[in-house]
Amino acid sequence: MLKSVQKLAKEQDIPCQISLEEKMGCGIGACLGCAVKTSNSPADNPSYLHVCKAGPVFDSSTVEI
Ligand code: FES
Repeated sequence: MLKSVQKLAKEQDIPCQISLEEKMGCGIGACLGCAVKTSNSPADNPSYLHVCKAGPVFDSSTVEI
């Protein structure tokens, strides 16, 4: 559902924030299970954010879900 909301917001040029707390495991930065790829990073050198440290709420245009 979040992916659909993200897509709709992009198509309609609507500001949108999404909460990715469902991806969190430990919540303290230890498990690294909450990494999400940033949308503007190059394919050959992707960068990631940790939901538990940088989020859990992100601008929908900044992350790939
Ligand atoms: S939830 Fe474990 S590192 Fe983010």
